[in-house]
Amino acid sequence: MSIFTIDEVKKTFTNGEVEEQVLNGINITLQEGEITALVGASGSGKSTILTIAAGLQRASDGKVLFQGKNMTDMNQDQIRKIRASEFGFVFQSSHLVPFLTVEEQLLLMLDVSETKMRKREQRDEVEKTLKLVDIDHRKDAYPSSLSGGEKQRVAIARAIIHKPKMLFADEPTASLDSKRSKDVMTLIRELTKTLHITTLMVTHDEEMLPYADHIITMKDGMVV
Ligand SMILES: Nc1ncnc2c1ncn2[C@@H]1O[C@H](COP(=O)(O)OP(=O)(O)OP(=O)(O)O)[C@@H](O)[C@H]1O
Ligand SMILES: [Mg+2]
Repeated sequence: MSIFTIDEVKKTFTNGEVEEQVLNGINITLQEGEITALVGASGSGKSTILTIAAGLQRASDGKVLFQGKNMTDMNQDQIRKIRASEFGFVFQSSHLVPFLTVEEQLLLMLDVSETKMRKREQRDEVEKTLKLVDIDHRKDAYPSSLSGGEKQRVAIARAIIHKPKMLFADEPTASLDSKRSKDVMTLIRELTKTLHITTLMVTHDEEMLPYADHIITMKDGMVV
């Protein structure tokens, strides 16, 4: 079943006097519970379409439909609510907060996503999610003492703890070596399947493609 549709999305940036159209009418449909990989040359518009889909910036034209609702018609507050409660994000760098422990990073996310849980339930949920990504033994650690792969696992835990419907990932393995990249992709794939999350992921790494159900190639702001 399709859960997410990008319909004729265009994006134009204005740099001073110069207008540059970086997306020229993108059409993508995502099926529930599947991983779609977005590939293409640098500058082809992958991150731009991902951030528009994730509600982090607006399209210049076209529609973005999440569960049939047009996000391009929504105001900032409505989009913020969807982002906080229905979407999860993973980026190339883990973007952990340096002065919070692993456990605190996830507790913070539960507050942001306004899940109505008591403190006790929140701690249990954090414990469970950290177990899922196999990092529960480091729950009291600060990011500076974690390896790259461990940090990325914490970032994934933080992205899924509020049980999002969608996961948006921009080169989630780019800062990792080959083995850790595969571990992270195995994890994303397992979580997508067991939690029934729909994932849209940008990658440069051909080795990551076997983990995807679909591959979409972009060139010069278009799907080819
Ligand atoms: N905020 C912005 N203002 C102006 N131009 C932008 C902006 N964001 C992106 N661009 C331009 O849009 C084009 C597409 O950028 P985008 O980041 O989507 O590419 P990408 O496919 O993700 O590339 P990479 O693989 O290098 O990450 C590029 O030419 C970029 O310079
Ligand atoms: Mg990019």
